Amino acid sequence: MAVLEGRLVAEKIQEEIRLEIERLKSERGVVPGLAVIMAGDDPASRSYVSSKSRLAEKLGIRSELVKFSAGVTAAEIARVIAERNADPQTHAILVQMPLPRPIDPWQVIDCIDPEKDVDAFHPYNQGLILQNRGRIFPCTPLGILRILDHYSIDPAGMNAVVVGRSFLVGKPMAAMLTNRHATVALCHSRTQGLPAILREAGLVVAALGKPGFITVDMVKPGAVLVDVGIHHIEKEADFEKFCPRSLHDAFKKKGSVITGDIHFQAFAKAAHYTPVPGGVGPLTVTMLMHNTVELCKRAISMANDKR
Ligand code: GUN
Repeated sequence: MAVLEGRLVAEKIQEEIRLEIERLKSERGVVPGLAVIMAGDDPASRSYVSSKSRLAEKLGIRSELVKFSAGVTAAEIARVIAERNADPQTHAILVQMPLPRPIDPWQVIDCIDPEKDVDAFHPYNQGLILQNRGRIFPCTPLGILRILDHYSIDPAGMNAVVVGRSFLVGKPMAAMLTNRHATVALCHSRTQGLPAILREAGLVVAALGKPGFITVDMVKPGAVLVDVGIHHIEKEADFEKFCPRSLHDAFKKKGSVITGDIHFQAFAKAAHYTPVPGGVGPLTVTMLMHNTVELCKRAISMANDKR
C-alpha cells in the first residue's frame, strides 16, 4: 500500500505556477487577478477561503475577497459578478459554495462569464467537459487527475467508481475519467448494492461527504482509493468509530482530528491511497491557482486575437 502524497504533488505544481506568474509579469506586465465571493459565515467555507487567499498571495496572484452576510440576495451577488465580469484586471471569479439558503446557486453561477469561471461550474464549461473539449476543469477532479498522473496511474480501461454526484466533484469527475477512457459508475446515496459495485472497482473516488462511509469490506484488494472527504472529528465516540488509535494523543491534545469518507482500515487493502489530510485537499486549492493563471493567459491571447 503506497501513499499518494498530494501535498508533495501540490508543492511541485505550485512552483511551476509561481514561475509562470513571474513570466507573465515580466514579459506581459500582467498580474493574474482572482475575485473570491463568499456569503454567510460557514466555518468550513471561511477556512477554505482563507487558505485560497494565502496561497494566491504566496504565488503572486492578486486576490480580492468580497464578503456578504447570510441574508444577501442572488441579485446582489449577481451585481458584484457583473462588475468583475467587466473588470479587465479580474481574470477569475469564484463563488464559494455552498451559498446560504434560499439562494439558488444556479442563479448565481449562470451570471459568471464562462471565460472567468475559475471553478468550471458554469453550464457552458460543464457542457464542454461532457463533450470532451473542456478548457477549464473543476479544481478537485482536476487535482485528482494530476495526482494519478504524477504516480503514473493511468485510468484508461480501469473500472472506476465515483461515489457522490455533486456538480463540484462527482459529476465532472465521472466525465473526466470517462474522457480518460475509464469505465465509470457514478454512484450516490440511492445506489442499490453499492458495496458489491465498489468491490469491482480498481479506482474509487469517494466524494459523498460521510465520514468513514467506505469500509474495508467494500474494497477490492489492490484498488486505488482517492478520498475527497474532509471531516473534523470532535467527539470521542466518533473518534473510536472512524480513527486509528495511533491518533488518540493528537486528538486529545488538539480536541479534533480530520478524517475522510474512506474508513482508515480500508487503506491497508489498497495498492495506493490518498491520505486525509494531505491528499486531495492541497491539490484543490493549487488547481484553483492553476486555473486562475490559465484564464489570465486565455484573456491575453483573446485580446491579442482581437488586435
Ligand atoms: N466549496 C467546496 N469546494 C469548493 C470549490 O472547489 N469551489 C467553490 N467555489 N466552492 C467550494
